[in-house]
Amino acid sequence: MDKNLRSAASDKKTILFRTAKSQILGYAGISDQNTLAFHDDYFGHRLSIFEKLKGVKVKILCIDHIGIAANSIHESSRLYTDALGLKLTGTEDVAEQKVKTAFLPIGESELELLESTDPEGPIAKYIAKNGEGIQHIALRVDNLEAALEELKNKGIRLIDEKPRRGAGGAMIAFIHPKATGGVLLELCQRD
Ligand code: CO
Repeated sequence: MDKNLRSAASDKKTILFRTAKSQILGYAGISDQNTLAFHDDYFGHRLSIFEKLKGVKVKILCIDHIGIAANSIHESSRLYTDALGLKLTGTEDVAEQKVKTAFLPIGESELELLESTDPEGPIAKYIAKNGEGIQHIALRVDNLEAALEELKNKGIRLIDEKPRRGAGGAMIAFIHPKATGGVLLELCQRD
């Protein structure tokens, strides 16, 4: 093909492309038709809206608490109260979990010390296997039932498929550590 013809054909393609683009942007009510960056931004923006629609609906509000397995709440809390100046605001027995819990609030979140009330309880078993230390992390959600439903639909393995009552009046559910790379994640909702 003659060089001039080729260049004319290529110009024509560019013009056609520009025209098509102008039409699309025109339909979308966008007047600045010749800025490719604008074009990309526009479609990028549209894409992010589509991503939101099909993507994550679970809303994580904050880290609610970090659960720390301890042989003795009395012994373990001393570091946090006497050396770090936190306040121990109360303890609670959660009979169902065979555990006694102590709360140390930090801003919106808190540390929860967990002491087993039974040698066969989950915290006793955890300490026997791993020693004392961080046992789980709890993320606060705005709607626990909806969050569990969404995770189930995504095929994420759960320990609790339905919310149950945890310490401090919260509704809680655990995600299986096999689904989280070894982190025992709790979701909780407080009203
Ligand atoms: Co917890």
